Amino acid sequence: MAKAKTAYVCGECGGEAPKWQGQCPHCSAWNTLSEIRIDATGASAGNRYASAPAGLAATGAMKSLSEIEARDTPRIASTIEEFDRVLGGGFVPGGVVLIGGDPGIGKSTLLLQALAGLSARARVLYVTGEESAEQVALRAQRLGLTAPGMKLLPEINLERIQTALVTEAPLVAVVDSIQTLYSDALTAAPGSVSQVRECAAQLTRIAKQSGITIVLVGHVTKEGTIAGPRVLEHIVDTVLYFEGDTHSSFRLVRAFKNRFGAVNELGVFAMTDRGLKGVSNPSALFLSQHDQDVPGSAVLVTQEGTRPLLVEIQALVDDAHAPNPRRLSVGLEQNRLAMLLAVLHRHVGVACYDQDVFINAVGGVKIAEPAADLAVLLAIVSSLKGKPLPRGLVVFGEVGLAGEIRPAPRGQERLREAAKLGFTQALIPKGNLPKIAIPGIEAIAVERAAEALARFR
Ligand code: TYD
Ligand code: MG
Repeated sequence: MAKAKTAYVCGECGGEAPKWQGQCPHCSAWNTLSEIRIDATGASAGNRYASAPAGLAATGAMKSLSEIEARDTPRIASTIEEFDRVLGGGFVPGGVVLIGGDPGIGKSTLLLQALAGLSARARVLYVTGEESAEQVALRAQRLGLTAPGMKLLPEINLERIQTALVTEAPLVAVVDSIQTLYSDALTAAPGSVSQVRECAAQLTRIAKQSGITIVLVGHVTKEGTIAGPRVLEHIVDTVLYFEGDTHSSFRLVRAFKNRFGAVNELGVFAMTDRGLKGVSNPSALFLSQHDQDVPGSAVLVTQEGTRPLLVEIQALVDDAHAPNPRRLSVGLEQNRLAMLLAVLHRHVGVACYDQDVFINAVGGVKIAEPAADLAVLLAIVSSLKGKPLPRGLVVFGEVGLAGEIRPAPRGQERLREAAKLGFTQALIPKGNLPKIAIPGIEAIAVERAAEALARFR
């Protein structure tokens, strides 16, 4: 018998090493390598297309690009419009979708609703490893879902799930969650990197072979990634993350990677007592309603996927009582805040070195685009001076290290959305100034950070 081969894989970055080391050679994290077995047949993790049929397989005869008939991938609409939007139009046959998010954010609820909707038209299977069948049935009852066609399988053994998938041949199957599964082929505990990787790879192989769409639920580690960032993300076709504040009722589902659609597309839901409801016009959700003008608040128009979204950026600047002032940001990038404070000092002449600075994007939304910079700067200065910004003002624009304001993509759409919601003034980069004025909103174009802040001092 051939000797079973092993390799060591990093739980942080998914990189492999031939032997155990204290430090990962790829990402330099400490104590993250764990042993995995490599199947001698090559059918496991590294080689998931090994026995996939032609057409789905990664290997095949060489052809010239023009010979290949390109078709649009057919879509299976999930019956939930906001969910279809993030998926890029619906599920793709044979596609594997990973949905991550904090516990209790609504992953199981959303998938149960989607499957119940689909079950009217097709065979669907819900594999539950976390909750018992009774718990799932109870939830479906509470949600008012009647889905007599939906099959439920409480199971955590990968091989038995594979058999069920082959015999039942559903159109869409949900596995809740990937961390509870174990394969007989491995001795590691469920939830360990090697089990999660092997189970995901095997399920992906089945999906590609049989054309079943498989949705994997993944738990997020405390660093905010699914069992280490790269471990699963490169195996599956689509990675979606649930975002949002569990204390508020709004939930965002964001496409992080999508082989069949646009990334950063956003689906917006409200959690109600009857499950998740799509919010089709979410642009004003992330504005808090102040009765009076308050200092430290600026309204940003951000562009998430194909939709503009208005988000209130709040800043609090207060005297620091420790030698190292605190810089804290929620929903925005921390390093970017440090950079903006440096720009503020050097190019605008406003110093915050003896001040604690806190910034927050309202509603638990995460903003990664640099076009938020100008709103952050305005909010900080407004809080520092104790002077509210004018009502009806929206802002967007990236701030460069030289103190310049750079244009943001899709400026006109942002302006139009702000005008639609009743905003009357917009502070924008010069490059975004529309040739024809947008009715209802006055655009104030600026080129430098100092110029922008001087207007509201
Ligand atoms: P759940 O889908 O179980 O989360 P996950 O699978 O991501 O861990 O969501 C559970 C939460 O949602 C729970 O805190 C209760 C809340 N909830 C509602 O508010 N309304 C509902 O109709 C349902 C089913 C759940
Ligand atoms: Mg769950």
